[in-house]
Amino acid sequence: MARTSAARTELDRLAAELARHDELYYRQAQPELSDAEYDALRERHDALAAKAGQPAWQQRPGDDRTAGFAKVLHRVPMLSLEKAADGEDGSAADKLAAWELRTRKALELADAAPLALLVEPKIDGISVGVVYRDGELAQAASRGDGVEGDDITAQVRASGALPLRVAVRGSFEVRGELYLPQAAFVRLRDATAAEGGRQLANPRNACAGLMKRKDAASLAGIGVAAFMYHLAWSEGIDVPSTQSGIVDWLRQLGLPVNPHCTVEPGAAAAAARCAAFAARRDGLDYGIDGMVIKLDDRRQQAQLGATEHHPRWGIAWKFPPERRPTVLREVIVQVGKSGKLTPVAVLDPVQLAGTTVSRASLHNFPELERKDVRIGDTVLVEKAGEIIPQVVAVVAERRPAGARPVPRPQACPACGTHPEADDVFIYCPNPGCPAQVRERLRHFASRPAMDIEGLGEAVVDLVVTHLGVAGPADLFALDAARLSTLERMGEKSAANLVAGLQTAKSRGLARVLTGLALEQIGEKLSEDLATRFGSAQRLLDMAAAHAAGDTAALGELMQIDGVAERTARLVLDQLANPAVRATIAALAAAGVVLEHRGAVVAAVAGVAGKTFVLTGTLPTLTRPDAEKLIKAAGGKTSGSVSKKTDYVVAGAEAGSKLAKAQELGVTILDEAALKALLAG
Ligand code: IVH
Repeated sequence: MARTSAARTELDRLAAELARHDELYYRQAQPELSDAEYDALRERHDALAAKAGQPAWQQRPGDDRTAGFAKVLHRVPMLSLEKAADGEDGSAADKLAAWELRTRKALELADAAPLALLVEPKIDGISVGVVYRDGELAQAASRGDGVEGDDITAQVRASGALPLRVAVRGSFEVRGELYLPQAAFVRLRDATAAEGGRQLANPRNACAGLMKRKDAASLAGIGVAAFMYHLAWSEGIDVPSTQSGIVDWLRQLGLPVNPHCTVEPGAAAAAARCAAFAARRDGLDYGIDGMVIKLDDRRQQAQLGATEHHPRWGIAWKFPPERRPTVLREVIVQVGKSGKLTPVAVLDPVQLAGTTVSRASLHNFPELERKDVRIGDTVLVEKAGEIIPQVVAVVAERRPAGARPVPRPQACPACGTHPEADDVFIYCPNPGCPAQVRERLRHFASRPAMDIEGLGEAVVDLVVTHLGVAGPADLFALDAARLSTLERMGEKSAANLVAGLQTAKSRGLARVLTGLALEQIGEKLSEDLATRFGSAQRLLDMAAAHAAGDTAALGELMQIDGVAERTARLVLDQLANPAVRATIAALAAAGVVLEHRGAVVAAVAGVAGKTFVLTGTLPTLTRPDAEKLIKAAGGKTSGSVSKKTDYVVAGAEAGSKLAKAQELGVTILDEAALKALLAG
């Protein structure tokens, strides 16, 4: 029994870790783990899960929903595709052949009967669903969690990626990818760098960031483009019966479609097309991460339908990540915001997946030693998930005489403190280390945190080095006069930064919590903590009580969806830490708002503290309005039904969430019952 529950706790812990890394990777585009480390973590999770009879880890394919955007319920869910990629379990071609067999069987096709397959590039962009009503671009929505996305109509309209009008009556929704062409990316990256903004990692992330700009008008002229490839639904229009026909129809309407679509007579021909197209990747001015193979006949598509996650009529052929050899000239040691010392390879510049790479992660010292990486070696560099380049291997036969092993650091490169090590990582234990201070401030100022305009990475370096800024609260004491003493800061930039700081003061508790860069407290948990507890003081009081042995606080934290005991403890322990408390007190003294914004207007008993899930269309209330009313009464809304859901509010065409609620015995309300509850 004890062993089972220990295994359970370990499973919860691994699940929480995986969720955090998914969040870092997908939502913040700031992965902390290499692909190999992530895979190792997932394997450990899946092995334990299998023993416990639990499902394997389901990676959330990047829920992009962002606070501050109206939500759109997708009329047809936005699913993802099953993948065929080279791996230990076979080649991509074998997997495609197996898919064809399964498909033929499901369609009851004779072996010799032809099977037309449309093959097209898989665009590494941002999925979008766009509704045209009577010829007008009426709505654009991001993917979100596949069921509900963000309303990005204004952004898409302003971007110029799609025609605002098309010559057709009736309504339809077309799906596709928004992307940033290489040249537009380089322009934007250089302009952002010149303004001292955060470095843009790659065209995909840059495009995702653009679509979440609140100031939609600023998107004009940046050069966002799109390829549309799928008709999700249509009303009052005669549409072609093949996928290739749909592509032609979209083209005729003036919508952008990819020019490299072909129809192949079966899986073998499709595989040959995919393999051959890989070589053309470099010549495109947009990123592709594979090819997509779809049944061309839309009646056959409809016949096959979909699983919960994937349509059965299509499959993605993933290209192996691009790898290039280059020479490793030096290894530098980077200090992270929590003091982690990471070895980074300095390389002869090499072109990789659309960007020039001259640095790559070596992850950690044990990993570097395992690969036996030496200075002077020719190494293979790859982009992990197309984001952070990493050194994957040494080309042994090209090792020059005199290649030097890389010693472990004996001192922090920034402050000289003797480092400490655990099994994997080496840390600088000095919280006052200037490099750590700088990294923490960069994080504090970043978009997902306090979003301080005018405080890019370069400016952070300046204020730390020359103006003695040592913590977040010091920032708010900066005035134009002191800033103007900096050599590279003009009067205008100084005034801009002062204004940026002033604005940031009232971003509210969630953003402050995110900005503190505490372990596990990312955007999502910060938002949940702020919503549930309302003020920093309340959280600090809970942490103090917890430190004094009171167990109630733990229980309260664990009421939050997805918070297991280990995370709850970690949160409270960190908030009980004197250094963290001092930082929060200093922020309060500097006039930073430490209450939750948009907090409860008037708590209503029966609603306050309860979790609601909305599904389907309500007769009079729109979804954002219903959410607002619930939040104003002290309730919380969530996108998915679980044991922690108190109420499901169901309207017309409520789907799987309603079924789940019935299964779990969650109380179901209609609009009238919700209104009655809100009335107290
Ligand atoms: S068809 C049911 N075609 O790749 C999904 N998807 O996991 C139908 N993608 O979420 C998608 N290029 O965002 C399709 N030519 C293409 C695509 C494409 C990129 C994305 C799409 C989807 C993901 C597949």
